[in-house]
Amino acid sequence: ASSEEGCVLVGAVDQGTSSTRFLIFNAKTSEVVTYHQVELRQILPKEGWVEEDPMEILDTVKVCIDQAVENLVGLGYKQADIKAVGITNQRETTIVWDKTTGKPLYNAIVWLDLRTASTIEDLLKKTPGNDQDFLRSRCGLPLATYFSAVKLRWLMDNSEAVRKAVEDGRCMFGTVDSWLVWNLTGGTKGGQHITDVTNASRTMLMNLSTLAWDDSLCRFFDIPKSVLPSIRSSAEVYGHLSDTSLKGTKISGILGDQQAALVGQSCFHVGQAKNTYGTGCFLLYNTGLKAVESKTGLLTTVAYQLGKNKPAVYALEGAIAIAGACVQWLRDNLGLISTSAEIEQLAAVVDGTHGCYFVPAFSGLFCPYWQNDARGIICGLTQFTNKNHLARAVLEAVCFQTRELLDAMNKDSGLDLTSVRVDGGMTVNGLLMQIQADLLGIDVGESGDG
Ligand code: G3P
Repeated sequence: ASSEEGCVLVGAVDQGTSSTRFLIFNAKTSEVVTYHQVELRQILPKEGWVEEDPMEILDTVKVCIDQAVENLVGLGYKQADIKAVGITNQRETTIVWDKTTGKPLYNAIVWLDLRTASTIEDLLKKTPGNDQDFLRSRCGLPLATYFSAVKLRWLMDNSEAVRKAVEDGRCMFGTVDSWLVWNLTGGTKGGQHITDVTNASRTMLMNLSTLAWDDSLCRFFDIPKSVLPSIRSSAEVYGHLSDTSLKGTKISGILGDQQAALVGQSCFHVGQAKNTYGTGCFLLYNTGLKAVESKTGLLTTVAYQLGKNKPAVYALEGAIAIAGACVQWLRDNLGLISTSAEIEQLAAVVDGTHGCYFVPAFSGLFCPYWQNDARGIICGLTQFTNKNHLARAVLEAVCFQTRELLDAMNKDSGLDLTSVRVDGGMTVNGLLMQIQADLLGIDVGESGDG
């Protein structure tokens, strides 16, 4: 392949929970021309705590951009063929930094982290009858450890450096998109402090109807608006890259990673849904211009707003904290497999689990339960149970959790989904996909008609 006259390429930063990638696409054919990916270290200081180093997150992005561009030039393209860059990111993960030094004030608190359980208890006391759903009608979300405002509240209560920086007006808050854009557009030398509507909809501070920071939500969490980024649409020019080999290239798109998968699967019509099997599992269902409030423990979220003057499109979301992460657990903590891919062969030896069930509630249970004190269990063990049954129970656990999301989704939408598009690392596992299709009783595929 080589650079042709009029060749238009676009770059995408994909900053996920366990790795960072930079992909370069041909804008006409949507094909990936080249990419570079690096793993990201998770820091586990205490049981239930999950952190990442914000500087490392930023460095991995720069390394991926530079390496992918080098690959591209090696293929005969020109770096100038890349006309724009977009950012998609792990959502809710919370970063605070000092705007005068540009340095993080604390490690990033990752979405899975459970340290805010006691913050939730305190916040619930402020609601009538300890009502987890007290803020749902405004922000679409239940009070849970998962969301950014709760993490920011914890940081302001527990880190002296953060508290002081907020008091001095030096503190900036952001989800990973904000941290990256601020740094990539110049940092202390004029970086843009922004986020997009999809990421903002995961903080608990944005009003779903106005798409603006909500005074009463900020008051509830006692968070000053001065630390928050400006909320922008998901597709507009936010600024230009100030360094890396793509210096000068515009940044013109931001989407939370699960919303990006919905867009990537072309789920642009009401009733279309996708499920992504990554670290966790996230089923998003397009509800169009209507923000549907869930009665079954799902989340209401912004799916995308493709332009400043375009309307926001909403989605119902089912979020499961642990999916691929339990295969990693089988590999790293139990040593039952040496690569994640091996789970398929191990599980395929048996045709069922013989009554063995695995509940991977490592980080409590998200949708539809919102129970942060739940913990994982394996039950139904007999002397007959072996590692094959256990491997199969792990795969089934991912599928059973998805089934619960689908049932809740059907109840909330009043319609029965007939197909769901799937993506994410685990979908290469054919056995998993078959078990999933059998358990859902609907079509599961890369580009269904759903
Ligand atoms: O809400 C968390 C989600 O955005 C994380 O996605 O792909 O990094 O597991 P992923």
